[in-house]
Amino acid sequence: MIANLGGIKLGYDESGRGNGLPVIFLHGFPHHRGLWAPQLSSLSSQARCIALDLRGFGESSVAPPYTMDQYADDVAAFMDALRIDRAVVCGLSMGGYVAFAMWRRHRPRIHSLVLADTKASADSEEGREKRRAMAQLARERGTSAVADATIPGMVGKHTRETSPQVVDLVYRILAKAPVAGVVGALEAMREREDSTSTLATIDVLTLIIVGEEDVLTPVSDAEAMHRAIYGSRLRVLARTGHVSNVERPAAFNIVLSEFLDTARHA
Ligand code: MLT
Repeated sequence: MIANLGGIKLGYDESGRGNGLPVIFLHGFPHHRGLWAPQLSSLSSQARCIALDLRGFGESSVAPPYTMDQYADDVAAFMDALRIDRAVVCGLSMGGYVAFAMWRRHRPRIHSLVLADTKASADSEEGREKRRAMAQLARERGTSAVADATIPGMVGKHTRETSPQVVDLVYRILAKAPVAGVVGALEAMREREDSTSTLATIDVLTLIIVGEEDVLTPVSDAEAMHRAIYGSRLRVLARTGHVSNVERPAAFNIVLSEFLDTARHA
């Protein structure tokens, strides 16, 4: 489906009970909403599940500006369009960076938070340099070159060894991402604010999920968020890498489902 927000269009999928607690799923870089399919199919009896494409990805408009604040404002405008007041916001990796920006800019819209395979810190200078090099690679050789460079870090070792179909799925999504959206997101991540000081301000129910083999946003980052967000839950998924929701969908869904049960009564 497509939501028309005036200036731009955002692609989205929706499943589940119309009157249940809405859950908005925010994808990582350089993915699209399709990576949330295992959650939309499995959790639909429990919640109203909505996965959207951030601008520059999937079926959404490929249109600047690309910043974390802009992505967050887009999600808030999307919620207005769908008449959703408050939602559980579930962001994976870059989606988590967007969730932090939403917390700063649109706090009343967040019922509770799920931070999956993400981190609060900003890029180091070396990290920023890598973003520039990746953007250049995308411009010169396209997003399949970005996929080739990214997949080994993105998908966990166990999954790479045992589930080629998952690697293939993630690769195909990465390789098809629009160059301008990828370059824009790299710039948005490079310039993103450090969210470390935001953590202590989070006073809604928060679940932190991380794959034990995540090398991009490792367990130590998740533990740091867990220590800083009062009352948060931390769940580490065994034999799982960075895209935990597709690498171990059953384990991810159990943890998320338990959390949604609690959140419903919060
Ligand atoms: C993502 O999966 O969104 C990215 O790996 C995040 C990042 O590169 O910082």
